[in-house]
Amino acid sequence: MHYGGVIFDLDGVIADTARFHYEAWKKLADELGIYFDKKTNERLKGIGRMESLDIILENSNISYTLEQKKYYAEKKNEYYKQFIQTLTPDDVLPGVKELMEILKRKGIKTAVASASKNAPTVLNKLGIASEFDYIVDASRIRKGKPDPELFLTAAINIGVEPSECIGIEDSAAGIEAIKRAGMFAVGVGDPKILKKADMVLKDLKDYGKIVDIICENITINNDRIFIVTDGKGNIKEDRYGLFYKDTRFLSKYDLEIDGKKPKLSKITSEKNFLKEISIEYKEDDNDRILQMYRKSFIYENTFYESFVLKNCGLKTEIANVTLDLDADFKDIFDVRGFAGGIYGSKPGVQREARQVVFEYTGLDGVLRKTTVQFNQDARYEKNKVVFMAELPPNKVFTFEVHVNVTVGNEKKATTLDFYEGLKTVEKSFNEWSMECAEVITDNERFNSLYKRSIEDLRSLLLNYEGYRIPAAGIPWFAVPFGRDSIVCAVQSLMINPGIARDVLLLAAKYQGLKLDGRSEEEPGKIFHEIREGEFTNTGMVPFGPYYGTHDATPLFLVLLHKYYKWTGDIEFLRKMLPAAEKALEWVISYGDRDNDGFLEYMRADEKGFTNQGWKDSEDSVRASDGKIASPPIALAEIQGYAYDAYMGMAELYKILKDTDPGNIKDKVEALKNKAAALRRNFHKAFWMEDKKYFAEALDRNKRQVDSITSNPGHCLWSGIIDGVYAKYVADRLISPEMFSGWGIRTMSSKEAAYDPESYHNGSVWPHDNSLIALGFSRYGFWEHLKVVFDALLEASAGFHGRLPELFCGYDKRERPLTQYPVACSPQAWAAASPFALLEAILGIRVDAQKGIVSLDPTLPDSINHITVKRMRVGEKLYDFEVERKNGKVEYSFKKGA
Ligand code: BG6
Ligand code: MG
Repeated sequence: MHYGGVIFDLDGVIADTARFHYEAWKKLADELGIYFDKKTNERLKGIGRMESLDIILENSNISYTLEQKKYYAEKKNEYYKQFIQTLTPDDVLPGVKELMEILKRKGIKTAVASASKNAPTVLNKLGIASEFDYIVDASRIRKGKPDPELFLTAAINIGVEPSECIGIEDSAAGIEAIKRAGMFAVGVGDPKILKKADMVLKDLKDYGKIVDIICENITINNDRIFIVTDGKGNIKEDRYGLFYKDTRFLSKYDLEIDGKKPKLSKITSEKNFLKEISIEYKEDDNDRILQMYRKSFIYENTFYESFVLKNCGLKTEIANVTLDLDADFKDIFDVRGFAGGIYGSKPGVQREARQVVFEYTGLDGVLRKTTVQFNQDARYEKNKVVFMAELPPNKVFTFEVHVNVTVGNEKKATTLDFYEGLKTVEKSFNEWSMECAEVITDNERFNSLYKRSIEDLRSLLLNYEGYRIPAAGIPWFAVPFGRDSIVCAVQSLMINPGIARDVLLLAAKYQGLKLDGRSEEEPGKIFHEIREGEFTNTGMVPFGPYYGTHDATPLFLVLLHKYYKWTGDIEFLRKMLPAAEKALEWVISYGDRDNDGFLEYMRADEKGFTNQGWKDSEDSVRASDGKIASPPIALAEIQGYAYDAYMGMAELYKILKDTDPGNIKDKVEALKNKAAALRRNFHKAFWMEDKKYFAEALDRNKRQVDSITSNPGHCLWSGIIDGVYAKYVADRLISPEMFSGWGIRTMSSKEAAYDPESYHNGSVWPHDNSLIALGFSRYGFWEHLKVVFDALLEASAGFHGRLPELFCGYDKRERPLTQYPVACSPQAWAAASPFALLEAILGIRVDAQKGIVSLDPTLPDSINHITVKRMRVGEKLYDFEVERKNGKVEYSFKKGA
C-alpha cells in the first residue's frame, strides 16, 4: 500500500496533555462530589467536552440542566487552560519531531485531527503548529470521535485519499474513527485498549515502524535497468519510475480496475529480479471480488509483467482494466531534486492496438525511446490503455506487458516469451551463484544473508563497456563508482576475485589524463562516478566522468595488490603496471598538494564535492565542538590507504623485478621508506594523546579535527597503526559511545555533531564496519571482531535479511533498529559486507603465487560451523570446514590445499 498522509491526534499522541484533561475533570468531579477514576477517564479520551461531562455525570444522582452542564464544562476548561499554560516545546513527546522530519523529507503530508477546541493553543505552545500541513478546526466539526468526520476532514484538506492515510491515536474512540474513515490505524499505548488498531506502539519513540510502512516500495533491478514502484506495483508519484542510463523511461505505470482502489495488496515474492504481488479489489456494497496477480522481472533492457485477473465472486463481471502510461524522460538528477530541468523537445507518443511508443530527443541530441507492448488489443482513453475483461465466476483474464528501453542507436532487445524470459533470468542468477564461493553455516540467518548478498551483487553488476562492474546502489547510484566499486571488489575477493579484475580494468580505462577543474580530473586519478544521462551529456552536471574523490586512487592500488595476492596473475599485473604507476604518481604528487607527505583534498570547483572521502556529505568533517573543518582536509583513513598502497606496490615491484631489475630495486626501497615515513608522521600528526585516539583529519592549518569517529578504524584495515595504539582504537570502537549494539557508528555519541539520523555523523554503515572487521582480524582483535559480526548479523534480520547502505545509530538498549529513510538498497558495498566479515572471522591469508592459503579462524557465538566451497585462489578452488569442537575452533581442507 502506498501512503501519502499521516494524521495525528493531539492529546496523548503529540503531547502528554491527556493527563491535564484528567486532572481538570478530576478537580471538577471532586467539587461536585462525583466519583471519578482513571478507568472512567479512559472512556473520555478522544471524546468531546460535553460528551465527556455526560459520562462523568453518569455517576451522579442529580440531573443537571443544559445551562448547568455548559457552566461545568466551561469550568473544567478553565482548569484545563491553566494546566496547559505550563507547556513548552520540550513537552512534545519523544519521537514526534523525528517522525515529522522524516515525513517531510519523504514528501508525506501531515495533519492534526483533534477533538479539542484548545488544539491550536496547545500546538502553538509546543511550537509545532506551523509544522503541519493542516490542523482540523474542532469547533467546525459536527460529530466527534468515534465518528470519522475529523479524520476525513483532515484527509480532504491535505489532498490525500483516506485509504492512503495513516491515523495515529491513543484513544479507543480515535482508533474507531480512523478505521471508519478507511485509514490505517496506529495506536499509541495499551494494546488491550486499542484492540482495533492495525498496529500498536508503546510510544512514538518506536516511530520507525510507521516509517517502515510508509516506505514500502518495491525495487527490482538487473544490470542497467531498475524499476521502483509502490507496494501495489504502480508508478504514480515522482519518486517512482523505470530507469535506464540515468533517465526515467516510465514516469507513470498505474493500474486500476474500474477506477477503483484495491482493498488489499500483498507482496508475495520479492527477489532482485522478480516481484510478485497479489491485489484484492473488493466492493462492500455488492459481492464483487476480483483478485489480481502481478508478476514481473527484468531481462536485457526489457521489463516484463504478467497480469492475471480472477473473478472470485459468484456472478459474471465486466471489468475495465486500465493502465495509465507516461514517460517523462527526466534526468535522474532532476528526479533526485539535485538539478533543475532544461530539456529538449517534448516527448512524442504513438499509440497502436498493441503498443505505445514514447520518444524523446534530449538537448544532447540523443534519442531515447520507451516501447510498451501488450499481447492483447487495447483501446485508449487519453493516456490510459484500456482492456475490457468479461469474467464468469472463477475465470481469469490475462495479459502481458513488455517495456523496452533504448538510448541512441542501441538495437531493441528481442522480446522473449514471459516464462522463457523468466527462466533465462533465473538461470543466469544460478550460474552466478555457482561462479561464486558457496558458504553454508549452522546459522540460518547468516545463510540467508549470504544468499541475498550474492543475489544483490549479481543484480548490481552492470554490463559496462564489456566489463562487469558493481553499481554503487539502487536507486540513486546505479552507475560505476570508483570508490564503491573498488571497495565492493575488495570485500568480494574471497567469493569471486573476477569482480576485482573488471573493476581494475574499467578504472584504468577511465584514469584521468589531463587537468580539468570542473570535473576534477587530474593525470593518474581514478574516477568518482560515470554518468550518461542528458544532464551529464550537456554538461549541466559534471559527471561524465567526475573525478572528485581522493581515496579511489590509493584504493585502486590497494585492490590491485590484493587481487594479485588472490590470483597470482602476473600477466594481468604486467598489463596493469602502467596504470598503477600513474596512480602511484598521482598519490605522491596531486594527492599530496602541499608536499607534506599527507594526502589532502580541496575541491577545485564550487560545484564539486566539499568532502572527497567516503563520508562525502558537506558536514561530515567536524571537530568535537561541532565546527566544520576547513579544507584542505587530510583524512585519517586516506593516509592509511596510501600507506597500504605504498607497501602493496613495493611488494608488486619486488615480484616484477625480473622485468627491469635495477630500476625496480630502487623503487621497492623507495616505496618502503615512503610508507615508513608516512606511518611515523601519521602517528605524530594524528594521534591525540589526551583522547587516546586518532583525529578524524587534519584541517587547513594542519590542526587535528578531534572528533572520535570510525575513520581511524579503516587504518586498522590498512595496517598503518602501531600495536599499542591499535588496541586503543579497537577498544574505543566497540565501547558504548561508538558501538550502538547494532554496529559501529560513524561518530561517537559524545560528540557535539552526533546525530544518529545523519548520513555520516552517527549512523551505522555496514561496509564501514566490515572494513574495520578486516582490521580487527589483521591485528588479531578476535573478541572485538565477534561483537561486530554478531551485531550486523542481528541487524540484517531487521532489514528483511539484507544489509542496507546505512541505518540509524540509536542505542540498541533505547530504541528499536531504525532504518535510514532514504538508504539505497541494494547497495554494493553493503551487500558485499558479509563476505568481508566472513573473510575476517576466517582469518584468511593468501598468496596465490606461492600457493599459500592459511586460516586463523575464530567463530562468533552465533556460528559453530562453516563450510566453504569453491573459494578461488589462483587457478585452484578450495573447499574447507571450520568447526567449534569442545570450545576450540578447528578447521580442515577438503581438497586443493
Ligand atoms: C480530546 C481529548 O483530544 O479533546 C478529550 O482526548 C477532550 O479528553 C477533547 O475532552 C475535547 O477537548 P477540549 O479541549 O475541547 O475540551
Ligand atoms: Mg599534504
